[in-house]
Amino acid sequence: MSLLELRDVSTEYETDDGPLRAVESVDMELEAGEILGIVGESGCGKTTLMKTILNLLPGNGRVVGGEIEFDGRDLTQLSKSEWQSVRWAEISYIIQNAMNALDPVYTVGAQFVEIIRAHTDDSKAEARTRAGDMLEKVGIGRGRLNDYPHELSGGQRQRVVVALALALEPPLIVADEPTTGLDVVTQEEILTLIQDMQSELGSAMIIITHDISVVAEVADRTGVMYGGQLVEVGDTVDVFNNSAHPYTMGLTNAFPSLADNPERLVSIPGTPPDLVTPPEGCRFAERCPFETEACAREPPVEGVGDRHTARCHYTDQAARFREESSREDTWTEGADR
Ligand SMILES: Nc1ncnc2c1ncn2[C@@H]1O[C@H](COP(=O)(O)OP(=O)(O)OP(=O)(O)O)[C@@H](O)[C@H]1O
Ligand SMILES: [Mg+2]
Repeated sequence: MSLLELRDVSTEYETDDGPLRAVESVDMELEAGEILGIVGESGCGKTTLMKTILNLLPGNGRVVGGEIEFDGRDLTQLSKSEWQSVRWAEISYIIQNAMNALDPVYTVGAQFVEIIRAHTDDSKAEARTRAGDMLEKVGIGRGRLNDYPHELSGGQRQRVVVALALALEPPLIVADEPTTGLDVVTQEEILTLIQDMQSELGSAMIIITHDISVVAEVADRTGVMYGGQLVEVGDTVDVFNNSAHPYTMGLTNAFPSLADNPERLVSIPGTPPDLVTPPEGCRFAERCPFETEACAREPPVEGVGDRHTARCHYTDQAARFREESSREDTWTEGADR
């Protein structure tokens, strides 16, 4: 049985323009100990998916459909107090901006002690010892327990956040852009740290990022999000080497402009759809070089291999698409329609 299973999960935000469906009918599975990477351009719903799983949606957001089964329970049905026992101990999270993740008015030690004591029978002293051990493990030393977050560098703060997420050895960790905003060397260090700790604990992990190289490096499985939908999911090697959705092909192509402008994820012309009024049928059609009339209809989720699916009418032509999509002019001029 899977550790985490999402079935037909949809999430909406109430906005001035009407309901915005940021996550649409997502099906997803994660086995114990597995690392799942989620990639996609800005605004495709990655963070919303994370907040949906963690029950951290803002006031205007709500899950409008589906089930999220974790270890035999439906997370969408948990009460506030049930969430208090699940969060950190069973599902923890690492968010992008560590300064926001840590409370500026408490010392690092105090934040550990609070979380540890809420979930264990540890005395204050025992919790502090455990916190110190965790700090040593992430390479910043127990001497920093009395520091306030602002006394640490960005990289050190992110190490603290990683240590907090792992302190109670949860079976699932969700990390949203855990290395974004850090300098390149620190990014690599934090990524290595996360990988080492994850493999030591054997926790499952969902790692969300717009940086494909991160996913290629760490994830067993990869999910690609576009316009609120999961458009392709499979083993990372299959998703990257045997892509079945044209969006994935566009994302993974190393076009010259990507080298010139490494901040840009894609060289796919255009932008993701507005999620208040998403296009009918395939959401990627308007940017897809292989679009046909059929794409005005909602594409099916097709199996294309072992635990590998793609949401496209033309998965049977994926090999040709891969070939053509590796040429930049396919994207700039549009292919044979
Ligand atoms: N609190 C909110 N209220 C209204 N709309 C929101 C809110 N948060 C996000 N959205 C919208 O939901 C959609 C998905 O946003 P989300 O933050 O989940 O995307 P993302 O893939 O994480 O993007 P990024 O890569 O920039 O972090 C976007 O259209 C965004 O504008
Ligand atoms: Mg995000």
